[in-house]
Amino acid sequence: MAQKIAFITGGNRGLGFQTALELKSADTKVVIGSRDQAQGQKAVEKLRAAGVDAEVLQFDITNPADVQVAYDYFNTLYGRLDILVNNAGIAAGKFPGTGPEHSAANVPEAILRRVFETNFFAQVALTNKLLPLIRKSPAGRIVNLSSILGSLTLHADPKSPIYHAKSFAYDASKSALNAYTVHLAYELRDTNIKVNSAHPGWVKTDMGGEQAPMELSEGGKTSAALATLPDDGPSGGYFHQGKPLPW
Ligand SMILES: NC(=O)c1ccc[n+]([C@@H]2O[C@H](COP(=O)([O-])OP(=O)(O)OC[C@H]3O[C@@H](n4cnc5c(N)ncnc54)[C@H](OP(=O)(O)O)[C@@H]3O)[C@@H](O)[C@H]2O)c1
Repeated sequence: MAQKIAFITGGNRGLGFQTALELKSADTKVVIGSRDQAQGQKAVEKLRAAGVDAEVLQFDITNPADVQVAYDYFNTLYGRLDILVNNAGIAAGKFPGTGPEHSAANVPEAILRRVFETNFFAQVALTNKLLPLIRKSPAGRIVNLSSILGSLTLHADPKSPIYHAKSFAYDASKSALNAYTVHLAYELRDTNIKVNSAHPGWVKTDMGGEQAPMELSEGGKTSAALATLPDDGPSGGYFHQGKPLPW
């Protein structure tokens, strides 16, 4: 069997790096995207020391030229892509970010646009660009790093634990990404490709902060599980550690 080829955006640190560690297998080559080549190279050295067959691709998801470079890279070297983990993301301001500057009524338009650019528009552009290569995989897997904060159902429920955790730009960008998951999974329903949204948990990373209850060592599990779903696994779902979340 040919080695599986995986691409994890934002793989130089945090959950992307942890997911790369979790994908460790002789059967899988893990390409991490990193905006900074040197940081990416350092991460690759750590991954290789841990036994991961890793390499780095300098990659900024908001740069259309980099998206083309990524397509050319996978097309030329491997002729296909088996796993895409859309992990790169930003949170404007503090996470979960309840500050009034980022509320629905006060969010600066520039912040809303910037967060959507990275967390939504660029994710769609990259995935659609790489889709012809994922279609060539015998079992393509697309994982969109959403968040529980993208759940409209939970945000609307006064009894939910995230009811007061409202950071409009970030939350809405993840709701939009969830919509992409549902629509793309529908479009790919008759293929071998599975598309799902992941909530990794509230994890101690630069974004999650020190107060996050979940250790990084646990944080990559949801993404990695969705990236390696068996043929009878779900598509078009929204999961945290194997359990479905309400949209
Ligand atoms: N941590 C949590 O509790 C939590 C909870 C739910 C969902 N998530 C989601 O999980 C994903 C990873 O989060 P994290 O906690 O690991 O965040 P993080 O520690 O802040 O890491 C973010 C990663 O994304 C990269 N990135 C940001 N903008 C990028 C761009 N324009 N192009 C390419 N890469 C870019 C960063 O690269 P640089 O190093 O170059 O900045 C970094 O590698 C995000 O989508 C986040 O929304 C996190």
